[in-house]
Amino acid sequence: MTSEAFKISNPQDDSSTELPLVDGTLGTPGVDVRGLNTKQGVFTYDPAFTATCSCKSDITFIDGENGILMYRGYPVDQLAEHSSYLEVCYLLLNGELPNATEMEDFRHAITHHTMLNESLVKFYDGFHYDAHPMAILTGIVGSLSAFYHDTTDIRNPEHREIFAHRMIAKMPTIAAAAYKHSIGQPKIGPKNHLDYAANFLRMCFAVPAEEYEVDPVAAKALDVLFILHADHEQNASTSTVRMAGSTGANPYAAISSGIAALWGPAHGGANEAVLNMLNQIGDVSQVPKYLEKAKDKNDPFRLMGFGHRVYKNFDPRAKIIRGYCHEVLEHYGMQNNKLFELALELERIALEDDYFVERKLYPNVDFYSGIIYQALGIPVNMFTPMFAIARTVGWAAHWSEMMADPGMRIARPRQVYTGYKLRDYVDINNR
Ligand code: ACO
Repeated sequence: MTSEAFKISNPQDDSSTELPLVDGTLGTPGVDVRGLNTKQGVFTYDPAFTATCSCKSDITFIDGENGILMYRGYPVDQLAEHSSYLEVCYLLLNGELPNATEMEDFRHAITHHTMLNESLVKFYDGFHYDAHPMAILTGIVGSLSAFYHDTTDIRNPEHREIFAHRMIAKMPTIAAAAYKHSIGQPKIGPKNHLDYAANFLRMCFAVPAEEYEVDPVAAKALDVLFILHADHEQNASTSTVRMAGSTGANPYAAISSGIAALWGPAHGGANEAVLNMLNQIGDVSQVPKYLEKAKDKNDPFRLMGFGHRVYKNFDPRAKIIRGYCHEVLEHYGMQNNKLFELALELERIALEDDYFVERKLYPNVDFYSGIIYQALGIPVNMFTPMFAIARTVGWAAHWSEMMADPGMRIARPRQVYTGYKLRDYVDINNR
């Protein structure tokens, strides 16, 4: 939808250019600056994309000022309370909640794509035992592009659908196998009678020598965490998937690039960094000292799990996860969990501190998720892979949306060049 024009004046020659406004259904409109270069001879400059809409999208809406997140129009808190991760996957991919038959067909499709090709399983042996699971995930998912030549016609909606089903289905198997590799245990295959989160827990924690019963409280908590991490519009990893995909690259390779982008501590790697930070702080008495460090511009220490590019209010996901922390810790008899107490105290003091108040820095999705993962027995280096499992549907939905757009072009930004002006080559003997 395009409505009125936006006028930009050029003080150098008093000229002005009218640029069309691009309205969505909700939120801030964009200015279509594509004509600016031809009309005014300038580019827009926005290095970290703080003011740039890279696309139109129907999938997810965030109102950062009011702490609202919606998938396809449904508030995330309603989905966390009433839905399941697989139903949310269907919603994100297809735009509507499924009826009972559609849900059953979708569940069947995902369940029957969970196994890994045995040749792919051999790749794990090439990784050193202490390889970070995110490194393994990046490599294994990229390698999927060498296996599925039958479904890589990216313009074919059926191929795109099978790719999305395969990716969502195989991610828990791939991540659990990375964990098993790191602890030297045999890999445990999927079981079709279990639901998505329960199946993942079994693949992580079952051993061939013993029976394994999935704890339904653990499976439910994990399912909710997966829902809350499923999509977040044009975040760094999703934008990376879109950028790689815009070249026409194999979709498995595009997802692999998204996993690499997710790994960094400013993005999905923050959940691992939060737990390490809480352990480093160690005791409630140390909180004021670490808050001072976080505020000191000469100190690289940052309060991990705090702040967000879009949310200038509570991250709605953090609120829900904090609530689940109480429930899960109580279930495991860990009410006096030291790290949770520390996190609550850190949040309390930070939210009274002018530095954090003025900058609108609140706990984000990663601040509390690690407390739950840890209570479920998931090791710290698996926290970011948990995020990757959940976000796979978001990446697949955005890639598919982009591919279905007939106007899709390669994403190729420009730059302001700041290097040498023209100079002549100098022979090596004269330098
Ligand atoms: N601790 C201390 N100060 C902070 C923090 C923090 N966690 N986050 C932001 N600030 C300060 C900055 O120093 C800056 O201060 P200034 O205006 O005086 O220079 C101001 O708040 C604005 O921060 P920016 O870094 O400019 O904000 P940006 O939008 O670029 O970064 C980010 C957002 C990366 C999330 C940042 O807040 C951060 O590093 N947080 C910690 C890491 C983290 O939790 N990442 C997970 C994000 S959620 C996700 O991806 C799942």
